[in-house]
Amino acid sequence: MPETIYRLSARRRRYLEAMGITVAPAAAGVHAESAAISEPAQEVVGDFLTTSYPLPVEPTTALDLKSVSTLDWPQLEAQVAACTACGLHKGRTQTVFGVGNREAQLLVIGEAPGATEDRQGEPFVGRAGKLLDAMLLAINLQRKEVFIANIIKCRPPKNRDPSQEEAAACRPYLQRQIELIEPKVILAVGRIAAHNLLETEQAIGKLRGRVHTLGQHNLSVVVTYHPAYLLRNPKDKAKAWQDLKQVTQLMRQ
Ligand code: URA
Repeated sequence: MPETIYRLSARRRRYLEAMGITVAPAAAGVHAESAAISEPAQEVVGDFLTTSYPLPVEPTTALDLKSVSTLDWPQLEAQVAACTACGLHKGRTQTVFGVGNREAQLLVIGEAPGATEDRQGEPFVGRAGKLLDAMLLAINLQRKEVFIANIIKCRPPKNRDPSQEEAAACRPYLQRQIELIEPKVILAVGRIAAHNLLETEQAIGKLRGRVHTLGQHNLSVVVTYHPAYLLRNPKDKAKAWQDLKQVTQLMRQ
């Protein structure tokens, strides 16, 4: 793993504390000093271990991947809102398309809407969403500066894991969102996001800590823990912070 030297401003320290991370001065790999937040520190960035994943080329669903791949934002949004490609549409209050900056450098991808998201039509607005906001602020990004979407646009009943068929049915939408946004970095939060995006079943502990590349444009993908998991396992927030620093480094490249 590359060594990273970071100066932490008081503000960033507050954000980290909001994530539940206490940063000791000169803690492992982190050198705390006061510095302007917009003027990041010196970094020593070694070569990341990189793995490449092709995007699926064949339509995997009842939806025609080719036709979705020509849609513009309003058309895509309308098609998602009217989607009945899998059974999840029957239980939804509304679809959760995704929010934020459509020209964002960072695209955050979660799993699926929960109850609050289904009611409000916006991803990550519940407790996990508050932690996600704090995680983003820790790397000096406001929610509105990034784009946030999910693998699945409709809430699975009782928040169960989405099935492979449901994920495949939704895939063309996310794929089109990725093409339209052209982000520099994708942050996949949680097992479901990472597995579906990278088409792997590797444990999240193995997927995080390195940079994956996706599709022909070699989009950088960083995997981290889902904020809902971090709420239950706060000891892993320090690892999530390492992942977030990797995102920052990639965005600067
Ligand atoms: N969890 C997710 O993965 N996505 C949401 O939108 C909300 C919670």
